[in-house]
Amino acid sequence: MHDIHAQRILILDFGGQTTQLIARRVRECGVYCEIHPWDLQADALIEFNATGIILSGGPESTIADNAPRIPDEILKLNVPVLGICYGMQALVNQLGGEVRAQQNHSEFGYASVSVQGNNALLDGLNDSDDKSGAPALDVWMSHGDRVEKLPDGFEIVGTSENAPIAAMAHTDKNCFGIQFHPEVTHTLQGAAIIERFVLDICGCEGLWTPGNIIDNAVNSIRDTVGNDDVLLALSGGVDSSVVAALMHKAIGSQLTCVFVDNGLLRLNEGDRVMETFAENMGVKVIRVNAEERFLTKLAGVEDPEAKRKVIGNLFVELFEEEADKLQNVKWLAQGTIYPDVIESAASSTGSAHLIKSHHNVGGLPSSMRLKLIEPLRELFKDEVRRIGVDLGLPGSMVYRHPFPGPGLGVRILGEVKKEYADILRLADNIFIEALIKHDLYNSVSQAFTVFLPVKSVGVTGDGRRYNYVVSLRAVETIDFMTARAAHLPYDFLDEVSRNICNSIPSISRVTYDISSKPPATIEWE
Ligand code: XMP
Repeated sequence: MHDIHAQRILILDFGGQTTQLIARRVRECGVYCEIHPWDLQADALIEFNATGIILSGGPESTIADNAPRIPDEILKLNVPVLGICYGMQALVNQLGGEVRAQQNHSEFGYASVSVQGNNALLDGLNDSDDKSGAPALDVWMSHGDRVEKLPDGFEIVGTSENAPIAAMAHTDKNCFGIQFHPEVTHTLQGAAIIERFVLDICGCEGLWTPGNIIDNAVNSIRDTVGNDDVLLALSGGVDSSVVAALMHKAIGSQLTCVFVDNGLLRLNEGDRVMETFAENMGVKVIRVNAEERFLTKLAGVEDPEAKRKVIGNLFVELFEEEADKLQNVKWLAQGTIYPDVIESAASSTGSAHLIKSHHNVGGLPSSMRLKLIEPLRELFKDEVRRIGVDLGLPGSMVYRHPFPGPGLGVRILGEVKKEYADILRLADNIFIEALIKHDLYNSVSQAFTVFLPVKSVGVTGDGRRYNYVVSLRAVETIDFMTARAAHLPYDFLDEVSRNICNSIPSISRVTYDISSKPPATIEWE
């Protein structure tokens, strides 16, 4: 079997907004990579044993005092290097060239870069011809400073209007710099440039494929747990579902899943999870029907954070109760994915302001004394989805919108009651089914319905109605940190509103939430 980690790209992060995108593009070429901070210790750097190195962009100026620097060891290693934006300027600075602040020559957004000379990175790539007939690339730039003088041994391989040195190459050393961002899709040949670097220049073979990732994970899970049993909290979300499928493939009946139905799930969700995993795949799943316990604990609780705590704590309590009943369980499997790993490394160095305490199953108590196994730790969400499909999970589960841990608990404003949850489930189902029917589901990042416990007057036939209000919410976002309300067609919204009011007598009014994030958040609580 292939060692899929043997060929590996190191991405040194200088704080760029798009560093994770670089990693995703490298993975799309079928090559393993990791992101590490620019000040990675020398021994860790050498131990990483990179096949190639990419230096990311960053918000600083390389000519400022105390600007982040490329570790000297990197410049001594004999492996290909690609500097992007800040990464290119840092190379220039540290190798004896010159970077200058050029207020009038900054470039943000679209630019055209004319390709010059012969080099392995850009040769033959072309979006259009420039005025002189030379090949030119449509790229996305974002820089204030610019390179004025190249270090020895480098040649100019790309020029734009405001950056005469927009790309550089030292062919003997396989060292390249580009002022633009190949990781964003606005740079039309960006994916091709990254592919050239990792496959042609670094010589990686593209072994990081879904099939190989699964084989590797299955072997590694078997080696790690041996004959021990493993416990998994299955939520029905993408990550825990893929972990369940993967662990089941690796260790079959040594895996036991606990699925807690807290009464705050979407319509028929509990039954669907049981059908997919227990009935179709033969996974051992213990379903804990705990609606009553959750609703009793939530009675009278109105504050969103207090609700989150009640739900999170009770979840852990129930999970522990089930775990106590099982013998021989030594491991707890979790669906931690690579962005969680990167973010927790970043947040251990900075202080993030708490907007909402996002309860994830990641918060299970250490008192359980179970060893942790996280088979998705190296994967991005799109990779998790791809292996989910390969493992035979239904597309409707793998490509589902995210659903918060506290479920409908944070979509019913104020106190949670069964009556409200039942109404909300029906309305939400109408909205989601309509999105699917009109082929709009995959064009939005997340869609759901919110229950407002206020009454509003309506009229049906000759009768007056005085009933509840729901709000539809659909957003478009890349990272869920910022978002805009999806511009759903009016006719569509009209149809959904009519269907909801006509088929659910206790709802008299439907609204559409058009707030973006910020200043609103995606969920209402
Ligand atoms: P907000 O509302 O903070 O949501 O803009 C951003 C993303 O996070 C999800 N979310 C949660 N996920 N537990 C979770 O596991 C939570 O308590 C929680 N609150 C929000 C939300 O659905 C959106 O995808």
